[in-house]
Amino acid sequence: MAGITNAPFRRICRKYGAGLFVSEMITARPLVEGNAKTLKLAAFDPDESPRSLQLYGVDPHYVGEAVSRLVGQSGVDHIDMNFGCPVPKVTRRGGGSALPLRRRLLQKILAAAVRHAQGVPITIKFRIGIDDNLTTFLETGKIAQEEGCAAVALHARTAAQFYEGAARWEAIAQLKDHVTHIPVLGNGDIWEAHDAARMIASTRCDGVVIGRGCLGRPWLFAELAALFAGTQAPDHPNFGQVAEVMMDHARSLIAWFGSEAAAMANFRKHAAWYTKGFRHSNAMRTALMTIRSIEDLRSILDAADASEAFPQAALRAVRGKSGRAQRVALPENYLAHLDDDEPLADDQDDDAQDGG
Ligand SMILES: Cc1cc2nc3c(=O)[nH]c(=O)nc-3n(C[C@H](O)[C@H](O)[C@H](O)COP(=O)(O)O)c2cc1C
Repeated sequence: MAGITNAPFRRICRKYGAGLFVSEMITARPLVEGNAKTLKLAAFDPDESPRSLQLYGVDPHYVGEAVSRLVGQSGVDHIDMNFGCPVPKVTRRGGGSALPLRRRLLQKILAAAVRHAQGVPITIKFRIGIDDNLTTFLETGKIAQEEGCAAVALHARTAAQFYEGAARWEAIAQLKDHVTHIPVLGNGDIWEAHDAARMIASTRCDGVVIGRGCLGRPWLFAELAALFAGTQAPDHPNFGQVAEVMMDHARSLIAWFGSEAAAMANFRKHAAWYTKGFRHSNAMRTALMTIRSIEDLRSILDAADASEAFPQAALRAVRGKSGRAQRVALPENYLAHLDDDEPLADDQDDDAQDGG
């Protein structure tokens, strides 16, 4: 998740038992051209394993080059490709969730990725389609399977839905019927571990992808790990325990950003998610939005009641992104030339880095 799953956050997810913790989305061309910001986002902790990276690209040439570099120099163990971004400035240029409409271009991109991956698994993540009249997920899944992808993941919403309404898990079941040789992973609205059990039971998907459910709740992975192992789930943390996770997260961000101010600016949104639903959390959040140092954070957390139990009502609170269905912007005449296989969008900048 863009802006979230940097190395410090991945370390916390790993500590709680996440099986695979994917990097922020990395755009192919700036990676190939050695853009410093992109290289930083694409870096791993020395002891991080597995090394899993999400790649965004619209041009088979740059995707192939990026994959070569990631497999060779960065030693990645897994590359996920994102074709689900619904943001207008991306789809308007034929990128993100608009790209699967051009199936021949999609094919070329995936073929280039798999060819350069030297056996490192390539997976792809996508949405149901543009809207209910332009669905692409079944064909996209088939193409991924034919081009040698190792698994597919469906965010069960259309781009037009953006983040609105419930994810349509029935589409995951349909995809599972259609893509029969590689694993199908389901994504959308897993807030608690039992949601994952329900998704698997109702769709027969082979695994689940966690999005907003882990924002401010990285221990969700411990609950999921217990569910899959058939063991007793750990208790939800009380406020004191949440505060310790927050301090740990904030300290790692300072080390990673190399700047306390930048780290605390990044941490503010996490602070709001971690504290959501606790007593006095509105007042506490107002204070948290102004933190500039780890001492600011400590003193705000110390003022709260450490023994307060985790608020049940907050478990399913939507966070990170919500609502606002949209009309999806496509390039002019895009639908009249769906057989074109030349890249339209420019993946030179990092504009695409806000979502899936
Ligand atoms: C802040 C934020 C950033 C995201 N960035 C990405 C991204 O870079 N790549 C991606 O594939 N999905 C991204 N997503 C989408 C999630 O991975 C997931 O598909 C989506 O939130 C639906 O799952 P959920 O309903 O369980 O949250 C992002 C979501 C959020 C909330």
